[in-house]
Amino acid sequence: MPPAGHPDESMYQDMASSSPTTPDDHSFFSSAPRAERQVDHISPGYSSPSSQFADAHRSVRNICCVGAGYVGGPTATVIAYQNPHIRVTAVDRDAQRIRRWNSRHLPINEPGLRDMVRIARDGSKGFSSANEADGGSLDVETERCIAEADLVFIAVNTPTKGSGVGAGAATDMTAFEAAVCEIARHARAGTIVVEKSTVPCRTAQLVQDMLAAHRPGVRFDILSSPEFLAAGTAIQDLLRPDRVLIGSSPTPSGRRAADALADVYAAWVPRARIIGTNVWSAELAKVVANAMLAQRLSSINSISAICEATGADIDEVVAAVGSDARVGARFLKPGIGFGGSCLKKDVLSLVYLAESLGLGHVAEYWRHVVSMNEQQRDRFSRRVVRCLNNTLVGKKITILGFAFKANTSDVRESPTMDIIRTLRDENPLEIAIFDPCCNPAAVRQEIEATMKRDQNTWKANGCPVIIYSDVYEACAASNAILITTECYEFKITWQAYSIERESSKRFYPTLFARRKLTEMDIIALHESLLQLSKCEEGDPLRRFVEEPLCAEDCPDCELVGTRAGGYRAEADVDWRKISHHMKKPRWLFDGKGIIAPKEIASKMASLGIHVESIGRQGNL
Ligand code: UGA
Repeated sequence: MPPAGHPDESMYQDMASSSPTTPDDHSFFSSAPRAERQVDHISPGYSSPSSQFADAHRSVRNICCVGAGYVGGPTATVIAYQNPHIRVTAVDRDAQRIRRWNSRHLPINEPGLRDMVRIARDGSKGFSSANEADGGSLDVETERCIAEADLVFIAVNTPTKGSGVGAGAATDMTAFEAAVCEIARHARAGTIVVEKSTVPCRTAQLVQDMLAAHRPGVRFDILSSPEFLAAGTAIQDLLRPDRVLIGSSPTPSGRRAADALADVYAAWVPRARIIGTNVWSAELAKVVANAMLAQRLSSINSISAICEATGADIDEVVAAVGSDARVGARFLKPGIGFGGSCLKKDVLSLVYLAESLGLGHVAEYWRHVVSMNEQQRDRFSRRVVRCLNNTLVGKKITILGFAFKANTSDVRESPTMDIIRTLRDENPLEIAIFDPCCNPAAVRQEIEATMKRDQNTWKANGCPVIIYSDVYEACAASNAILITTECYEFKITWQAYSIERESSKRFYPTLFARRKLTEMDIIALHESLLQLSKCEEGDPLRRFVEEPLCAEDCPDCELVGTRAGGYRAEADVDWRKISHHMKKPRWLFDGKGIIAPKEIASKMASLGIHVESIGRQGNL
């Protein structure tokens, strides 16, 4: 099990001098501490294990988040937003990413993120709006931010290892080690170091050893506080988490550190939801949570294959099974298999951990979760080819959705990529792609990078893969449309769906039950006013200050016709218009079950579109 090793000091010194470090010179900031705000007063459900140390309780005034990606960026933003008295800084080795965090077009497209960044970064009209970033000197930023912090989050990526020992399963700790190394060099004695990245069980030992090797005799406290946010709902997940996990060592100092972090979260998270554990449990619980989610999806996807073969209806089966409270209804939606950079990686990490511990049968069990996932998308691709008479030659295939799930611009680890690869082998005329949330340039880049990386499995002279920024152009003259991301724009816009969408988004604040508004109240009011005005962005409370401009090379500014909050389509897709311009026979392969209800599928049939849906026999 690699992370529990005890590498020698010189290895880290070498690494520090030669390898690129994640925290390299670039940072973005929360605004200067603003006026103290009222916070929810919560019943003390979190019984502090260290109440006897209350006198020595440490309060956190300065946080540095190393890594400003999908986890670090939103986490730093929400912590800054909810704790105006704490200075929060995020640093990253990617200068362009930091430039974008400090501009109008953020590097991540998450609903609600931009509003939160505007307040946390720029200040609001009601409070001080001084942005210390303006005065920052970039070449010493990382060093200084770490050195000044009372608490440092490590939120760098920990992907699956691509080569070497454990390739394809073990966790690649390169960026994580580099971050720890940087912290070891610059952090003050007594700094609390928090693992936010998903790491293998016992990684805290590696952190401890590295810090001890660099700074013998200096005390640091190491906590594990994994993040459970999901792409597309990151802000909601951060604002209303099911739980916040804080793993600490059972020493007085470890417990005091855990309390200090708990206080940061308690600004908006009920204490009862802040769970204290030991460090190894917190590290393992994160990986297991993702593995169990993945296992659930592979289980239901395996049943979708049986439904397609027997005539049972997967939605009816899911409703029946999910209504058993012990099973639960969430995370049971069948599809083309899970994508994204987390579920598969974490199952594989569990496989590797079990193997390293000599638990072959455990490893084998979890490995099947991944292979079932791969077979699911392969089955979907083969169904497309089979329905189109086993030949795609001369046919245009349109793929609606590229990101691994709706409401995200994250183009990595998309299951669609495997589908494209399989279909391209059939020599179609063209594969067209449209995703309302993704920048076409980013999609193109990801496809090209994948082709280059997997040279053996991509045909050199296959058909063109064209990325469109207009859904109707993408679908024009198409023989078959595949829905691979559950974007609501793709749903049929008959009334039943509009109502469902509206009500699922509505949020009723209970503002006037309190004397003073909390930040959560203000967020609720903001969301509610946006919904009433039916616009997805804006400043209904008029509290935003001017945003910083983008850099000249901002990829979003180059994209004509996009809106600042992301790449959302202006309106729902008009299927009548699409069907009119499709080639006959018109095929629609619904890989996400969003056209699935019978009445919707039959309306599609009235447009002359044959629908083939996951977990259901075709409607021909
Ligand atoms: C996942 C976990 O859900 C988060 O709790 C965790 O914090 C995160 O990984 C992480 O470790 O960072 P994420 O991968 O962003 O979040 O997104 P999910 O909502 O889990 O979706 C993963 C995949 O499963 C997507 O491709 C999605 O389309 C698919 N899915 C999800 C289904 O096919 N059916 C479902 O019912 C739910």
